[in-house]
Amino acid sequence: MVGVHRASVTELCAKDYNAEQISAWTGKHSTDAGKQRWVDKIQSDLVWVLEIEGTIRGFAHFRLLSEPYLSGYLNALYLAPAVAGLGYGRQMLNTIEDECLYRNINHVQTHATKNAFSFYKRMGFKQNGEIYVVHMSGVGVESFPMEKNLCADPANS
Ligand SMILES: CC(C)(COP(=O)(O)OP(=O)(O)OC[C@H]1O[C@@H](n2cnc3c(N)ncnc32)[C@H](O)[C@@H]1OP(=O)(O)O)[C@@H](O)C(=O)NCCC(=O)NCCS
Repeated sequence: MVGVHRASVTELCAKDYNAEQISAWTGKHSTDAGKQRWVDKIQSDLVWVLEIEGTIRGFAHFRLLSEPYLSGYLNALYLAPAVAGLGYGRQMLNTIEDECLYRNINHVQTHATKNAFSFYKRMGFKQNGEIYVVHMSGVGVESFPMEKNLCADPANS
């Protein structure tokens, strides 16, 4: 997962972020503490991996939120560059949304990277706030707050 994250950020996000941002973003997850945080997430939250021919090619991390209503937060969705643009992102998001509906979660939030903004819009997410800057090792990395209401009836979405 760390390797997929590093490759995904380095190759797919680099057109929208500068070298300092990419370095801070990947470095945060490559340390022992960073790797331990992934182990903690796997134990406490929902994590999916995309495995193709025995190799992890993508992953998603989703956190269940209970307040103020049953909602969830998509914290990460990263694909290896070699499999990006082939429909796997859509498949993974559909899987996550199916799991949400199964758990009666009808609202999903995320912070989209600049490069993923159009993907999330295509998948029915809407921007719901001003650009948000996450600070990683003192370096600001911009993202867009987005949300999607999940419901069986498209007329209510
Ligand atoms: C963002 C990401 C998860 C999308 O997954 P993907 O497999 O490349 O996307 P898909 O092939 O499933 O595309 C689904 C739809 O979104 C559209 N789409 C995907 N990326 C897009 C982009 N950058 N701009 C416009 N449309 C895009 C596709 O054209 C497709 O639409 P269609 O069904 O009409 O053809 C993947 O590219 C990735 O890992 N990016 C780098 C990491 C990242 O930024 N993750 C998001 C963290 S919030």
